[in-house]
Amino acid sequence: MELAFRLEPAMNTVSISPQTLAINGGSPVRSTFLPYGRQSIEEADIQAVVDVLRSDWLTTGPKVSEFEESFAARVGAKHAVSFSSGTAALHGAAFAAGLKPGDEAITTPMTFAATANCVLYQGATPVFADVSRDTLNLDPEQVAKRISSKTRAILTVDYAGHPSGLDAILELGRNHDLVVIEDACHALGAEDRGRPVGSIADMTVFSFHPVKHITTGEGGMVATNNSGFAETLRCFRNHGISSEARQRQSAGQWHYEMVLLGYNYRLPDIACALGIGQLKRLDANLSRRREIAARYTAAFRRIPGAIPPAVRPESNPAWHLYPIRLELERLTADRAQSFRALRAENIGVNVHYIPVHLHPYYRDRFGYRGGEFPVAEDAYSRLISLPMFHGMSDQDVDDVITAVGKVLSVYSR
Ligand SMILES: Cc1ncc(COP(=O)(O)O)c(C=O)c1O
Repeated sequence: MELAFRLEPAMNTVSISPQTLAINGGSPVRSTFLPYGRQSIEEADIQAVVDVLRSDWLTTGPKVSEFEESFAARVGAKHAVSFSSGTAALHGAAFAAGLKPGDEAITTPMTFAATANCVLYQGATPVFADVSRDTLNLDPEQVAKRISSKTRAILTVDYAGHPSGLDAILELGRNHDLVVIEDACHALGAEDRGRPVGSIADMTVFSFHPVKHITTGEGGMVATNNSGFAETLRCFRNHGISSEARQRQSAGQWHYEMVLLGYNYRLPDIACALGIGQLKRLDANLSRRREIAARYTAAFRRIPGAIPPAVRPESNPAWHLYPIRLELERLTADRAQSFRALRAENIGVNVHYIPVHLHPYYRDRFGYRGGEFPVAEDAYSRLISLPMFHGMSDQDVDDVITAVGKVLSVYSR
């Protein structure tokens, strides 16, 4: 029989009790599977979508501008331009930044592939720079080393919802005449030195995928204070056409012109109606995520083998993810084994991220072999994302803490 400790979070105590891991035939901590992320849809959301279905405009109607205006106000930006996904929004931002073949954009390997892919969509080259050890966000010193005469943009990512600490990056941008794009797909509602994410970078990109803070099914947004960027983004997401059908209808005109090569990246009214209601609940969602993060962090400080995510004093993260790092030196199991053991306990752990340069496409195309970005690669070998979504109950949170304590105590050296 293996000895494992059970954490009693409410009482702040740790008691030793004999337990067998579920992966070895013991009973799982939970009888039902807890996913790592989940949307929350209320009756009012459903009604708002039904109302649009009964209206005249299913796409590019009044709900689009209503969603964009309330979103811009919430993130402190002059403009917000909706897109059919976060990936399409990234593509729009790369286009508006003027990226083209021969150009380079510096970005982080510790992200979802879409961040770097948007540079490739423009025929430009993503140049990776390593991340800071604490937040796993782009390290400005590493970025500075990679700036060349071909660099046109820096693309930061607010990993797990912790703001990128943009001041140093913006200074690099100013000194080298670069556009700074912030991929804030994890960070809706986060703040950096009291400023909302969305009000700081030249363009800030958000995603409304169901695991994010608010959802429209699929969807994305670019926030910007730059009217020129906003105009280009609106045109780009609509085939490169300079006016919208509704504007033409209300002006009694049929004539339109395509002025640049764009795409159909529009977010329909059906989705925007959902987004409007979801956005109203953002603050409640954020405070629940912050409560969960605080409860996790207090517990993991007392569990040997698990390192909770760092928070810089000037940052107020949005906690899209809660990734712990395993202290492998103290454990007999690696990340893969710990991951399997947690899944067997019915905890829906995940891994964010395989560093982008290690994906076969990037290895084949750019010749990466591993070892190029040691901080990101070391973090990858240790990272496990725990369930984090605003609909989690306190019991769900305690189950995760108990399961992590159980698994890591059985695997402790
Ligand atoms: C950091 C990051 N960037 C971009 C995206 C792409 O967003 P979407 O799924 O809305 O296309 C994601 C999605 O998970 C993401 O996590």
